[in-house]
Amino acid sequence: MTKKIEKLFVKTYGCQMNVFDSERIEESLETLGIKKVNKPQGSDLILLNTCHIREKAAEKVYSEIGRLKKIKSKNPGLKIGVVGCVAQAEGQEIMRRAEIVDMVLGPQVYHRLPEIIQRVQGGERVVDTDFPLEDKFEKLAQNKYQKRSVSSFLTVQEGCDKFCSFCVVPYTRGAEVSRSPEVVIKEAKELVASGVREITLLGQNVNAYAAKNSAGIKLDLADLIKEICVISELKRLRFITSHPKDMTRNLVDLFGEEEKLMPYLHLPIQSGSDQILKRMNRGHTVKSYIETINNLRKIRPDVAISGDFIVGFPGETEDDFSLTLDLLEKIKYAQAYSFKYSPRPGTPAYERDDLSEKVKSERLKRLQVKIQQHQKEFQENLIESVQEILVEKYGKFSDQFIGRSPYMNPVIINTKRNIIGNMEKVRIVSSSGLSLVGELIS
Ligand code: SAH
Ligand code: SF4
Ligand code: F3S
Repeated sequence: MTKKIEKLFVKTYGCQMNVFDSERIEESLETLGIKKVNKPQGSDLILLNTCHIREKAAEKVYSEIGRLKKIKSKNPGLKIGVVGCVAQAEGQEIMRRAEIVDMVLGPQVYHRLPEIIQRVQGGERVVDTDFPLEDKFEKLAQNKYQKRSVSSFLTVQEGCDKFCSFCVVPYTRGAEVSRSPEVVIKEAKELVASGVREITLLGQNVNAYAAKNSAGIKLDLADLIKEICVISELKRLRFITSHPKDMTRNLVDLFGEEEKLMPYLHLPIQSGSDQILKRMNRGHTVKSYIETINNLRKIRPDVAISGDFIVGFPGETEDDFSLTLDLLEKIKYAQAYSFKYSPRPGTPAYERDDLSEKVKSERLKRLQVKIQQHQKEFQENLIESVQEILVEKYGKFSDQFIGRSPYMNPVIINTKRNIIGNMEKVRIVSSSGLSLVGELIS
């Protein structure tokens, strides 16, 4: 007889959407009596929630599966599942290459897990990479009594129709789909009722959000934010990731109207050269991007801008790259992620990869020096200011707590009083590395 599945271990890679999916899977399986554990040894079910964005992502998953063989040999009843974006991209191939895998599930079918687990327990090997129409989160059981952290994510939109020539997301997550506003608002209320004070709305292109409510009225992201901000106990709202093309005037204006909307915007541009943006199929120009940010800064001069950059995209010349450095000087990002271009099979730019590793590494280094310099300046500008800090968790040492500034900076606060969950007025006294140190006022 097969052993009943009681202990689940989930390993999560990739973006916040995967983090949110994993949490919802754990929570939903808990209602079936399957408890989440923190290590693979001794578990009955291991799920690898995978990401396909970086080079050799699939190969890394195969090596990870290889490492699980040892654990499985000691525990033959153990079931192994590969879920997420590599599962979507590889599908049946995973079953062929990795005999110990029992299920391969794409990101849109997690609500079918209870039934799939039963089949797997019966000895079946299951592959499901459908894009069903129903809302997986609405169908996943929720544990309303679970204690939540102060800050929580909430997925409102998935998938992408943009097809940037370097990116796998439109293939792994499917077309842009927005969740019903009523369902999202209901979930936001439940989060707040369970103690959440800050919600970050998630989507691959969150500002492309567009959905009709039950009265047939169309809501965009600005409308949705307004409705969520009405929840009185909610203190803060953020949203990631936005696409420059969908950054409407309404949404920009909201930063000046809605107090709960935090002055932080993650708006990736990838390159400062129009020629490269065109080849990336980004659908916007450097000028339109700068205009959006200037408009936003007129409304919220203190806003923290964050971005993503790719260096060494096929055909990127030294001139193109220096335009990216110029853009950094114009925007002065509070924070930014940067990557070397990596060719992804199945994407239009795959065959065009033409710059050497040496050139890519050297450009990445130059870019990161500038990004770090601007980040440091942004942090140092906050010294001596008084900020409202939402305190999220304990720090490394005793009598130490960590919260976030409105601009997303982690702020360390030393005090004997337990202040988790509070909004505290704090004077920023110093800045080091990626965080700030603050002192409680009063
Ligand atoms: N939807 C978001 C980002 C999704 S992926 C957007 O459009 O901005 C997160 C980041 O990974 C991207 O912004 C990009 O900077 C990086 N990325 C995606 N594909 C890549 C590739 N093939 N090579 C290098 N970086 C890549
Ligand atoms: Fe990928 Fe571009 Fe879509 Fe972002 S907008 S997920 S980079 S295709
Ligand atoms: Fe990775 Fe999929 Fe997110 S490819 S970045 S986990 S959408």
